Amino acid sequence: MRVVNLMKHITLSTIVDLYIATTLPRLTIADVGCSSGPNSLSPTKEIIESVGKACRRLDRPSPEFMVSLNNLPANNFNSMFLGLHEFYKKLNRGSQSVFKEGVPGFFYWRLFPIDSLDFIHFSFSLHWLSEVPKDLFDENGKCINKGNIYISLMSPPSVAKAYEKQFEEDFNLFLRLRSVELALGGWMVLITAGRGGSCWWGNSIMFLWDVLAQAFSIMVSLVIKFI
Ligand SMILES: C[S@@+](CC[C@H](N)C(=O)[O-])C[C@H]1O[C@@H](n2cnc3c(N)ncnc32)[C@H](O)[C@@H]1O
Repeated sequence: MRVVNLMKHITLSTIVDLYIATTLPRLTIADVGCSSGPNSLSPTKEIIESVGKACRRLDRPSPEFMVSLNNLPANNFNSMFLGLHEFYKKLNRGSQSVFKEGVPGFFYWRLFPIDSLDFIHFSFSLHWLSEVPKDLFDENGKCINKGNIYISLMSPPSVAKAYEKQFEEDFNLFLRLRSVELALGGWMVLITAGRGGSCWWGNSIMFLWDVLAQAFSIMVSLVIKFI
């Protein structure tokens, strides 16, 4: 959560720049891979407040907002919208025109109509791949990353290559899909985790996957013991 808060100024300043650069009466915005639960409305609230401040500073009328919140189909969309009443109460007591919709779907699918969005933002969701990389399995179908659930210090280099290849394919597909949905002159902000430097393993987050993999191994061995 801390890292999300540290990075959100990028999204907020970009949408303000977009608003200043255009004279759109309505901003259509998508939060793709939004958070779940009542928190999912927070980024939208902050976007609207930031644009509202810019409107007052520039003495311009506030645009209308059409906001689409995307998450996986299994996400609990009811819990996402539970905070709507509070959201509208806080936001200028309902005087601002903000329309919302939930859009269930995988972001490796088409999600929105052609040329329909002025602004798309992603925050810490793009690291989810579309599928387990096929190259993680040898010709006999055996996993080459035994005992691990991601790239670990113990993984052979081909594991890192398999994930890299899958990410490249997914990211290409993702960009192609969004380029169709973004209106001419629309902007997009992608915030995602990455590695500093060329070391494929050296990243503090990787340590967490190792610990999780160990916990899974222990759980599986306990289950096997009892069957
Ligand atoms: C780490 S959370 C980030 C949430 C939020 N964007 C934030 O910055 O707090 C990642 C979200 O992406 C969603 N997600 C993962 N893969 C997805 C996919 N293929 N399509 C749509 N949503 C996805 C997850 O359900 C989860 O809610």
